[in-house]
Amino acid sequence: MGSNFIRYILKKHPDWQVVNLDKLTYAGNLENLKEVSRNKNYQFVKGDIAEAEDVAKVIGEGVDKIINYAAETHVDRSIMAPDAFIKTDIFGTYTLLEAAKKYNVAQYIQISTDEVFGSIKKGFFDESSPFRPNSPYSASKAGADLLCRAYFKTYNLPIIVTHACNVFGLNQYPEKLIPLFITNLLEGKKVPVYGEGQQTREWIFTEDHCRAIAMIMEKGQSGEVYNIGTGFEKTNLETTKFILREMGSGEEMIEYVKDRPAHDERYAINSQKLRGLGWQPSVSWEEGLRRTISWYKENRNWWQPLKSGAYLEYYKKQYGK
Ligand code: DAU
Repeated sequence: MGSNFIRYILKKHPDWQVVNLDKLTYAGNLENLKEVSRNKNYQFVKGDIAEAEDVAKVIGEGVDKIINYAAETHVDRSIMAPDAFIKTDIFGTYTLLEAAKKYNVAQYIQISTDEVFGSIKKGFFDESSPFRPNSPYSASKAGADLLCRAYFKTYNLPIIVTHACNVFGLNQYPEKLIPLFITNLLEGKKVPVYGEGQQTREWIFTEDHCRAIAMIMEKGQSGEVYNIGTGFEKTNLETTKFILREMGSGEEMIEYVKDRPAHDERYAINSQKLRGLGWQPSVSWEEGLRRTISWYKENRNWWQPLKSGAYLEYYKKQYGK
């Protein structure tokens, strides 16, 4: 998500200076930013948001806006090993907020998730719905979001929190449903659907998420919270079958596997507040998926190395095979 946003914002505001502070964990990849690496308005700094010194090196240099995309994000990993999530998502956010306070930044935007609200059977979560996170990942994000609220209330820092639905698109590490299933099919492998695949998710194409953040930077109010959603709600089986059809594969490629513990049944958010700022999605679910499939087809060199070594070890642990 972060690399997509950097590419997007450098195009939209060619005169802005962008500094990318990234720890480059397993999901970080400088390849994603190759096309901007020579842009004189772009700078990469390797560092950890949970290390005050690394953060000071960047924010202390006169940064006026912080957009916190840095996070551990994969729910299944958080179930197996929550520690990195607590450290990066909670302590990292705290470290950034402290720097925002010390260096008087003009705007801080927290990129967060609808998962903090937990699961909803009917209806939609709005910005004031209570937090009921069910995984170590979503609990970490909820903790970070609450710190943002507290820093706005206590120190009057110019903070905005955003809760987005499921983002998909180019350059997404092939562990999340959409890139995992596309790349598995390209490798001739089956796609592992958890449980019966009846859970639903609301999907947004990454470019639309970038546009939403840019809009919030421009028109959002400090201390406010904005949901970022599209209304494109699909069961996991619907998503799976669409991908199978588009890739010319049959349903025999589905493998039903054991369900994720505490698997949230449904996420759905009301994003009227953001629409009131003038934003609406511009890429349909179908078009977004087609563009994503094409990208993974054309960029095997990007994802193939990611699906070996440590990645396979991780899947062995998860599925026992
Ligand atoms: O809702 C926003 C969130 O969406 C973000 O905050 C998270 O960082 C992001 O990972 C995502 O969380 P999900 O758990 O919804 O995404 P994931 O792609 O892991 O799973 C989507 C759905 O597909 C979920 O119901 C679990 C299911 N699934 C996932 C994988 C990886 C499968 O059935 N099989 C799989 O192999």
